[in-house]
Amino acid sequence: MSAIQYVEVGGAAPYRIAIGPGLLKAPALLAECLRGRHALVASDGNVAPLYLHRVEAALRAARPDLRLGRLVIPPGEGEKTLGNFAAALDALAGLGATRDACVFALGGGVVGDLAGFAAACWMRGIDVVQLPTTLLAMVDSSVGGKTAVDIPQGKNLVGAFHPPRAVIADIGTLRSLPPRELRAGFAEVVKYGAIVDAPFLDWLEAQADGLLAGDDALLAQAIARSCAHKAAIVERDPFERGERALLNFGHTFGHAIEAEQAAGSGGYGHGLNHGEAVAVGMVLAARLSTALGLAEAGDGDRLRTLLARFGLPTALPEGLEAGALVARMRLDKKAQASGLRFVLWDGAGRARVVADIDEAAVLAVLR
Ligand code: NAD
Ligand code: GLY
Repeated sequence: MSAIQYVEVGGAAPYRIAIGPGLLKAPALLAECLRGRHALVASDGNVAPLYLHRVEAALRAARPDLRLGRLVIPPGEGEKTLGNFAAALDALAGLGATRDACVFALGGGVVGDLAGFAAACWMRGIDVVQLPTTLLAMVDSSVGGKTAVDIPQGKNLVGAFHPPRAVIADIGTLRSLPPRELRAGFAEVVKYGAIVDAPFLDWLEAQADGLLAGDDALLAQAIARSCAHKAAIVERDPFERGERALLNFGHTFGHAIEAEQAAGSGGYGHGLNHGEAVAVGMVLAARLSTALGLAEAGDGDRLRTLLARFGLPTALPEGLEAGALVARMRLDKKAQASGLRFVLWDGAGRARVVADIDEAAVLAVLR
């Protein structure tokens, strides 16, 4: 096994992110997260057949006395529901989980957010260890402690801040990830370059082919650099009172796209996935920045070209109505009583929050 890379997340509840191949087969690494005698491994119907037995075997090898339960939900954004949250609590109850129990969230951001929220609520908060298996989850959703489920009125509207006890990112799992899901993860990787690290965009431009081909060393570098940025930001602003909002670059547009698609098709999980919606959202945020005179059009063009290079969509899908998208944005958690608020940029690597944006300017960009 090649060397493990570590990223430390500081703050009131510090934890470590371990990144490397083969980590789900490392009994000591998994078992060192355990404080009690109960563990629930939560996963989905795509990931469980591939990796659940590895995690269970590693935990059993390290701790034969462990009472181990499992929860496998169907895959997809449409399953990040209050119903499956209740199923996770039922599984913890069935296991007899005590306050020192641990939930292992094995999967992408859907499983991570849902299992993390269940851990946040069971007995007012037990440990969750994030075992991300998508690129998006490795660079974003597993880090920082945001947990949630979706409701029909909007994505992630019900949730809690609940930092993990540890994050263990086995990059070997990315080999089985469908190519579309790998590409979606690059939207969040590019985001870090866009908001705080312009040289990272240069690196991504240079390494795009190797990254898309699944080169382990390059992926580990991209994941570690992304996690280091997220760690630094959430350490300074764990509850999104300020700087953390920068991580939502592209997300106000992206969440509106996801919610409108869900409304038009009977539920979440149709049309663009989260990473794809964020890619389109970042292009729109850059365009809005230019329209408001904050950034040069050339920076937005460069961002769009890079996202397209990673096989990501860069234009609004057909059939979405601008007025309906703006109505969704008013409900977004980033909106405030005073009006629409966006993360915009002054150019590559220089994002900032801008409040009281004129809806006419947003509508013009969407049209
Ligand atoms: P996902 O969890 O739906 O996973 C994508 C698909 O890949 C699923 O079908 C899944 O079963 C499959 N899959 C996962 N790992 C696999 C593997 N190794 N091999 C084969 N198939 C695999 O989606 P995602 O993109 O990982 O996460 C999106 C979710 O994350 C959204 O709900 C979003 O809101 C949330 N999110 C949360 C945060 C946060 O800070 N908490 C940040 C970003 C995104
Ligand atoms: N993905 C946004 C955040 O964690 O704050």
